[in-house]
Amino acid sequence: MQQEKVYRAELTACFGDPVDENPSGVIAEAGYDALGLNYRYLTIRVEKNGLEDAVKGARAMGFCGFNLTIPHKVAVIPLLDELTEAARLIGAVNTVVRRDGKLIGENTDGKGFLKSLRDNGIDPAGKTVTLLGAGGAARAISIELALAGARKINIINRSEERGAELAAAVLERTNAAASYIRWIPQVRIPEETDILVQCTNIGLFPDITGKPDVNYDTLRPEMVAADVVFNRPNTPFLQEAARRGLKTITGLGMLVNQAALNFKLWTGKDAPVEVMTEALAKEFGL
Ligand SMILES: NC(=O)c1ccc[n+]([C@@H]2O[C@H](COP(=O)([O-])OP(=O)(O)OC[C@H]3O[C@@H](n4cnc5c(N)ncnc54)[C@H](OP(=O)(O)O)[C@@H]3O)[C@@H](O)[C@H]2O)c1
Repeated sequence: MQQEKVYRAELTACFGDPVDENPSGVIAEAGYDALGLNYRYLTIRVEKNGLEDAVKGARAMGFCGFNLTIPHKVAVIPLLDELTEAARLIGAVNTVVRRDGKLIGENTDGKGFLKSLRDNGIDPAGKTVTLLGAGGAARAISIELALAGARKINIINRSEERGAELAAAVLERTNAAASYIRWIPQVRIPEETDILVQCTNIGLFPDITGKPDVNYDTLRPEMVAADVVFNRPNTPFLQEAARRGLKTITGLGMLVNQAALNFKLWTGKDAPVEVMTEALAKEFGL
């Protein structure tokens, strides 16, 4: 007997502003195609004051999930029905999944970064992690690494308020020690650092020559240097670290791994990570 054709697609999306150059759709759709899933991923510009309507629209249209990027990761929280424990601790949501009609907020940024570290043979348990930056990416990474057993989290940030607040959040919500370090010019990286993570926008396209103002003589070859910036992945920060003998990890792994976690939440299937990585590499001409 002939099976009835289903023309309705399952919808997923990214809401953000700016969002035009966000490559999440390329990664997700490569995965959907590889598994023959009738899913779509729409990259949609939603201005700050349009988020409430966009979430209502996604509910009404039965989206099975969506991502949030700048400036919506915190603002979306009161519009959702539930938060996962990680999203609650981080205080931001990058992924929403629909379960039994409820919209549940999760944060897969930090988990994606953690997977990328582990894929490179690095376990943060017992390690001291120093982060440059205290924005959304730094929040997710510091909380997830602390939950994964990191011993101490140092936050170096330009604005004291944000940096000190994040260090206090890590201390209060996890078992890790934490401290805020003021970002003075040529700031020294603490000697105790095992993993150094660049979590600012510095080096992000189109300003690809930007390099954080730190004293690079304080980097030691035993440290690992990671960058969250993925466009272009081999940032001047990572180039400088590699020149000094450090193992380096680009932001591509974090991006693909968080996309793979979202894929599993939305489709219930394991993501074809290799296909998704290849699609991203092709997109960036790597
Ligand atoms: N690979 C991935 O999967 C992934 C996922 C998420 C984000 N990201 C990347 O992560 C980066 C940060 O995103 P976000 O969401 O955390 O942004 P955000 O919330 O706006 O935070 C930006 C951070 O960068 C700092 N900063 C910006 N310009 C600086 C400068 N010139 N000097 C010193 N500090 C500076 C800010 O410091 P102040 O507090 O002083 O303003 C803040 O701590 C972006 O490049 C984004 O593309 C990558």
